[in-house]
Amino acid sequence: MNELRRVGIYTSGGDAPGMNACVRAVTRTLQVEELEIVGIRRGYAGMIEGDFVEVDGQSVSNILQKGGTILKSARSKRFQTPEGRAVAAEQLRKADIDALVGIGGDGTLRGAHLMRQEHGTRIVGCPGTIDNNLFGTDETIGFDTALNTAIENIDRIRDTADAHDRLFLVEVMGADSGFIALNCAIGGGAEMVLIPEFESDVLHIKNRIHSLMSAQSRSSIVVVAEGEGLGGAPAIADALGSDRAFDHIDIRVCILGHTQRGGPPSARDRVLASRLGTGAVKALLDGFDDVMVGVVDGDVKYTPLSEVTSRKKDINYELLKLAQMLS
Ligand code: F6P
Repeated sequence: MNELRRVGIYTSGGDAPGMNACVRAVTRTLQVEELEIVGIRRGYAGMIEGDFVEVDGQSVSNILQKGGTILKSARSKRFQTPEGRAVAAEQLRKADIDALVGIGGDGTLRGAHLMRQEHGTRIVGCPGTIDNNLFGTDETIGFDTALNTAIENIDRIRDTADAHDRLFLVEVMGADSGFIALNCAIGGGAEMVLIPEFESDVLHIKNRIHSLMSAQSRSSIVVVAEGEGLGGAPAIADALGSDRAFDHIDIRVCILGHTQRGGPPSARDRVLASRLGTGAVKALLDGFDDVMVGVVDGDVKYTPLSEVTSRKKDINYELLKLAQMLS
């Protein structure tokens, strides 16, 4: 294997608070190791176009606390084709890039694994997504911040819901997983939570809401994960609204959407991102590649990308029981 000399770094897919902290950690660790650093802008789209910038320890000053990503991000359709990946590999060769550190979610890490398989690119992934849906790490970069944002908004919604005795269906992000929903239901004291991992039943939802709202005549908050099977908060509101039994209940929908992706990273995300960024460079220096760096039970661990991309991270059913019991 060639000696490590010049490393490319990119962020890809949905941005997540803490990505900048990770870029900073990767860059500064590479600098300490006296390696060259190339920033690849706009993820795989920029890799295909050769949109590269020289980066050094100084250029990552004052970004630790910022949301978004200074390297920009994108979802590239062209990279999903073998032709697109071949162009990306050629651009890396032309720029003398020996290895990559990629920060992103499941799509980003699948792309990284394909680059390794098809073009032998040395590559280490860092889990950066608010969804927390990656096997091989207890938490992903951005999850804690998104969760705090969602809970803060639920607290605000609770005030107005309570003032009007309304039912609010609050939809949160998470793609096809319910980590954000489940945790913010517990942290926000929601009366009910609907997640993709647990099949929802309209009749059960109606019965539960009906008894909550009529017996106690108070506000209720139902947290709905965007990937839940009934079509999300608007579809559930329609199903309730078209039932005469709910005529007396004032229903509102609030979709938190991309508010969960922005904002300064929490302290926890900054520390996690810093550990994982440095861990990624250490992995390359120790001869590892085709792995994702994660924190498992408090320690930095490497998990093969083949496993990360083929295994599903399980929801903690104890948390689901807790959310139900405390509501
Ligand atoms: O993966 C992060 C995420 O925010 C998901 O929770 C959500 O489903 C998706 O990205 C939204 O993607 P976009 O910003 O491309 O609309």
